[in-house]
Amino acid sequence: MDAVPRPEMFDFHGISMIPSFTKNWENIQNFQARPDDILIATYPKAGTTWVSNILDLLYFGQREKPIPLHDRVPFMEMCNPVMGSGTDLADKLPTSPRLIKTHLPVQFVPKSFWEQKSRIVYTARNAKDNVVSFFHFDRMNMDQPEPGDWSSYLERFKQGKVLYGSWYDHVSNWWKKKQTYSNLHYMFFEDMVEDTGREIDKLCSFLGLTPSAEEKERVTGGVQFDNMKKDGMANYSTNIVMDFKVSPFMRKGKVGDWKNHFTVDQNEEFDEDYKTKMKDPTLQFRTEI
Ligand code: A3P
Repeated sequence: MDAVPRPEMFDFHGISMIPSFTKNWENIQNFQARPDDILIATYPKAGTTWVSNILDLLYFGQREKPIPLHDRVPFMEMCNPVMGSGTDLADKLPTSPRLIKTHLPVQFVPKSFWEQKSRIVYTARNAKDNVVSFFHFDRMNMDQPEPGDWSSYLERFKQGKVLYGSWYDHVSNWWKKKQTYSNLHYMFFEDMVEDTGREIDKLCSFLGLTPSAEEKERVTGGVQFDNMKKDGMANYSTNIVMDFKVSPFMRKGKVGDWKNHFTVDQNEEFDEDYKTKMKDPTLQFRTEI
């Protein structure tokens, strides 16, 4: 595994990216969204897989034939020889609505999504747990840039020099978009951990879905952390570039794991820096529940 060369990041219109997410750029920008598409948008490691699984179960229930989640919910900007092209996969999806995943900052979203007024579910996670999860993911995924050690990673996260750029800009700009685009539902990872059923209810009301009590129970149960960790179609165990010996994809699924990583000094410096970057009082995150 170690022999596989890690991709290098480069500046792409102000955002740190790697070739797998930019080489299909023209097709991404020209992607034809449909009015019933649902775009699942997140900064990486904010609960994308969790929300994808919830939506997939809500719309399609248990499938007769097991299909990995990454085939059911194409990753729009992804393009590499192993996974293929996310836009092609989306175009070939036989089911509707199409569920499509992206980590793109809001300014990069193909314009057809706005024109078609497609629904968008954005999930955000507090910066401290997000950076910890991202660090472990970059360690175990050989298709991600080399993370280096924890303290240098944390510094680069603060500077927005990690894949997909600044967490601060990502969550803030999507939050701003919500003020003008009514088909956007903004969720928080911490709320999902606190009460998954309540958040599924809110999601259903946004989507106009009315699952029976039984269906809802099936979805809520199926997406519990321990069940998803065991679920070979959702836990990425089929992915050959991830080294689960380094760290599992379904790692902890908790709020507050940052306390096991941040030193007291790192935490104080992080909080000081956070205040200078996150000025909108209406966007508040919880770092513990
Ligand atoms: P941790 O690394 O903190 O455990 P993404 O899908 O955006 O890559 O996010 C992955 C993060 O979401 C990981 O966080 C993973 O464990 C967590 N996660 C995935 N499914 C979950 C679930 N059902 N319940 C709680 N957390 C979940």
